[in-house]
Amino acid sequence: MNMEKSVNIDWSTIGFSYRKTDYRYLSYWKDGKWDDGKLTEDNMLHISESSTALHYGQQCFEGMKAYRRKDGRIQLFRPDRNAARMQNSCRRILMSEFPIDRFIEAVKKVVKANAHYVPPYGTGATLYIRPLIIGIGDNIGVRPAPEYIFTVFCMPVGPYFKGGMAPINFIVTDYDRAAPFGTGAAKVGGNYAASLLPHEEAVKKGFADCIYLDPATHTKLEEVGAANFFGITKDNKFVTPDSPSILPSITRESLTVLAKDFLDMKVEERDIYIDEIDEFVEAGACGTAAVITPIGGIEYKGKLHVFHSQTEVGPITKKLYDTLVGIQFGDIEGPEGWIDLVE
Ligand code: PLP
Ligand code: COI
Repeated sequence: MNMEKSVNIDWSTIGFSYRKTDYRYLSYWKDGKWDDGKLTEDNMLHISESSTALHYGQQCFEGMKAYRRKDGRIQLFRPDRNAARMQNSCRRILMSEFPIDRFIEAVKKVVKANAHYVPPYGTGATLYIRPLIIGIGDNIGVRPAPEYIFTVFCMPVGPYFKGGMAPINFIVTDYDRAAPFGTGAAKVGGNYAASLLPHEEAVKKGFADCIYLDPATHTKLEEVGAANFFGITKDNKFVTPDSPSILPSITRESLTVLAKDFLDMKVEERDIYIDEIDEFVEAGACGTAAVITPIGGIEYKGKLHVFHSQTEVGPITKKLYDTLVGIQFGDIEGPEGWIDLVE
């Protein structure tokens, strides 16, 4: 219905930044239940100054995208996985979970209402969707909130890392984004607050972002900024870290399936010692925002380790990218249940 509307956006130059779109979804949890929820045009939240989200970081979010297919229709990629991960985040910080079917329905409502913001097929741009739950209401002790807001908003975006599919360099940081048995596996704001300074320091040194090591021993590679890590070995294995303190990336999980079933590769989820990264001939960062970003090199203890090349994408990384993005935009048939059409 909204397809008749149009927006004047140069899709080829948009980056990853906030833009107010027309509608967002809002539901309140009070007296033990979520209300019916509705679309609203107001992008401001009016909440108590004592909200737990503001004081104690009781909030979690998701990141997902809607893709315009060649035939003009719009689709989501594995939205059930985002809904389930959000429930997991809620359990970790004692927030009310939003039902999976209602989560998907709310996302679809927001995408449909803002369909004119879904970038055209072929531009590479997508509609980024941000579901969010925050603890609200009057409270001052350190305890779960008496009320919650679930909201979903969206905006058209381009590449998260400048350059898109061009290899970029990262630097290992001494900081941690999460503790060994902390909240690293939950998508909660505190992890991201902890990442702001290491990110800024990495950027000041000329790197795209920082690499986190495992918080217990600082010997194993964990995450690439706000994305997961994968490496390709000389004998063609897809390797990605196994750790309770990284965010279980839906892109990463999808790539393990694609590597195995589409590229006939062996997949290993295991410890990756930073001292042994020269076993990889290619490496990448993967995530909803990052898609697949090839890692040119990683600086560790003053030495830059270069993988495939500083300028060219490695052949396996390219194949993984083409397969993943092909499925996300509807050009390649993916595994059953991965695609959910919006309209
Ligand atoms: N790791 C972190 C810290 C992230 O914020 C994200 C983004 O969501 C990812 C990894 C990638 O996860 P996904 O592929 O589910 O977007
Ligand atoms: C995502 O990939 O969706 C993220 O959440 C990463 C970042 C923008 C926070």
